Amino acid sequence: MQNFVFHNPTKIIFGRATIPLVGQETAAWGDHALLVYGKESIKKHGIYNQVTASLENTGIKITEHGGVRSNPTLDHVRTGIEKVQKNGCTVLVAVGGGSVIDSAKAISAGSPVKHDVWKFFTGKKSIKKTLPLITVLTLAAAGSEMNSGMVITNEATHEKFGFGNKRLYPKTSILDPETTFTVPPDYTAYGAVDAVAHVLEFYMTASDPATPVQDRLMEGLIQNSMDACNRCLLVPDNYNARADLMWTATLALNGLTAAGLGRVGFPMHMIEHSLSALYDIPHGAGLSIVIPGWLTWFSSINAVRIALLGKKVFPLAEADNYSDEQMARRTVVKLRKWFNRIGSPTSLGEAGIPKIDIEKIADNAISLAKVWRLQGYTRKRIEEILHLCA
Ligand code: NZQ
Ligand code: ZN
Repeated sequence: MQNFVFHNPTKIIFGRATIPLVGQETAAWGDHALLVYGKESIKKHGIYNQVTASLENTGIKITEHGGVRSNPTLDHVRTGIEKVQKNGCTVLVAVGGGSVIDSAKAISAGSPVKHDVWKFFTGKKSIKKTLPLITVLTLAAAGSEMNSGMVITNEATHEKFGFGNKRLYPKTSILDPETTFTVPPDYTAYGAVDAVAHVLEFYMTASDPATPVQDRLMEGLIQNSMDACNRCLLVPDNYNARADLMWTATLALNGLTAAGLGRVGFPMHMIEHSLSALYDIPHGAGLSIVIPGWLTWFSSINAVRIALLGKKVFPLAEADNYSDEQMARRTVVKLRKWFNRIGSPTSLGEAGIPKIDIEKIADNAISLAKVWRLQGYTRKRIEEILHLCA
């Protein structure tokens, strides 16, 4: 196990009937909130009314910033920054999924500075100050509610870039699993795929080969994402299933799994971000396309690691008779079958992306590979992986 510092400052309030606490949590940080939310779901399902009532009861002034779309855009973030600056908001409240929370994070970093917020994403400027952020999560997926990352799409340049900074952690996140009863089957599935992907990235790219505590933790999170997702799809208002999925997705990317692994990478996300940036497909759908192809490519580099995952997550009585290569192949097949079963696409073709676009996708991905310093991810290698996703 490598040396590590694990410091996650986000306070989590988890469980039923917790949304009314948003007022007091926000009041601890400011008296004028920019309320950031998505298109329609929170108004349709009564969450908006609960949040605004709690904020108003605590005497907090609200400036609205709704309309965040999935795969959130830089332009909408810029408008939010203008609102904060013009109206003097002192705190942000984000109510929604990863797109809403990431937009709020970008607004919180972009509001105190004079330069354009995109400079943070390209590494030209670093974040020195942010406005405090409180979140109410309504979708189990990205993990943004308890991490320091944010992902935004620059539509003008077709770049979907993400990065982390310790000042981006939300102060408090409220996780009421009942808010996710209304998440439709497709986004329930994409969210679970995202959680699985977050764990897989670190599991596969860990530079330390001896991390049994983290390995068992990660295998457990993958099993629980899959199992909880299956139960949510069967009975959408099964509280325990929604609670399991929500907490699993949060733990999958809050820093805990990576502690002690040494240097890790996010190569599957790097490629997926180009699919979302160019074709606006949901993040989880893009990941279920990339994962089987990337794992197939990675089998020739570290079949032992994929085989280990397979033995733990998809146990098989006669596993000892299998070679690592056979076991790795079986693991990829099992994962692909699960993606298919929950309705998440597993090939570029299934998402309507023609093979002929592979060069263009690789061209797009290479810029993020550079920003993320993913060594070895040349255009040739990305194209090779994408051909395995076709
Ligand atoms: O816009 P509304 O009407 O709210 O609808 C949303 C949206 O259409 C809907 N939804 C959310 N909560 C709902 C609901 N529908 C019914 N009932 C509810 N309770 O779900 C749709 C998708 O929402 P979105 O926020 O886009 O999904 P998700 O949470 O998967 O976030 C995806 C974004 O997060 C980024 C992704 O790249 C993508 O842009 N990620 C952020 C990360 C981070 N900050 O650490 C890491 C991830 O790897 C990921 O990259
Ligand atoms: Zn993700």
